[in-house]
Amino acid sequence: MDLQNQMKEAVAKAAVREIKDDMIVGLGSGSTAALMIKNLASLIQAGNLKNVRGVPTSFQSEVLASEYGIPLIDLASVSEIDLAIDGADEVDPNFQLIKGGGACHVREKLVAYKATKLFIVVDETKLVDNLNKVFPLPVEVLPSAWKQVKESIESMNASSILRMAKKKAGPVVTDQGNLILDVLFKEGIKNPKSVESSINNIPGVLENGLFIDLTDKVLVGKIEGQLTKVISLEKKVNR
Ligand code: 5RP
Repeated sequence: MDLQNQMKEAVAKAAVREIKDDMIVGLGSGSTAALMIKNLASLIQAGNLKNVRGVPTSFQSEVLASEYGIPLIDLASVSEIDLAIDGADEVDPNFQLIKGGGACHVREKLVAYKATKLFIVVDETKLVDNLNKVFPLPVEVLPSAWKQVKESIESMNASSILRMAKKKAGPVVTDQGNLILDVLFKEGIKNPKSVESSINNIPGVLENGLFIDLTDKVLVGKIEGQLTKVISLEKKVNR
């Protein structure tokens, strides 16, 4: 296993220790969340966790969790989620996030908003001083509006590209049937709260990948010497 995967596996294991009997758990998307889902399934199968139900954040997490035998419930049929565990693409020192590297941020954000607690699982490469210097901000847009949204975003001192699929001709199509613009602000994102709302105010935008004041804890996988360590960073901002 390469170093990054070792870090991901370590945080995935640490995160599932936070899950208790009878909890409704938001199941994040991406490679780190997938490891968390597999670890959760092992605990359930071993009889170490009882009556846990998962709320998937994507087609990916739904298929994986059901393959591994985790009981699932629909987001629409729960009024509250006890704990959501998800990955992230960038985490800043105030726990503001960029998510959506897997184009799942719409449902991930809905789950995060319904969750009493949101724990983020990342390897140390995801910690940044300023958001969006490197990782583009994913913005989900209606297919018929992508060019118009692109123009609006580009008038905000940013560049954007339509995310293209790897094993299909044409663009990535989200679980909702929409497209993704990946956006880089010329100077990064200095005020994530106002950028989140300005982008969401553009007609044709469904949601962007900025997660503001939602995170309670960040579990960070690190390699020190030959050893994998997990550091738990506690909440610094209020919801
Ligand atoms: C998917 C996400 C993922 O959580 C994010 O891209 C991190 O993925 P990974 O753990 O594979 O690095 O937001 O939309």
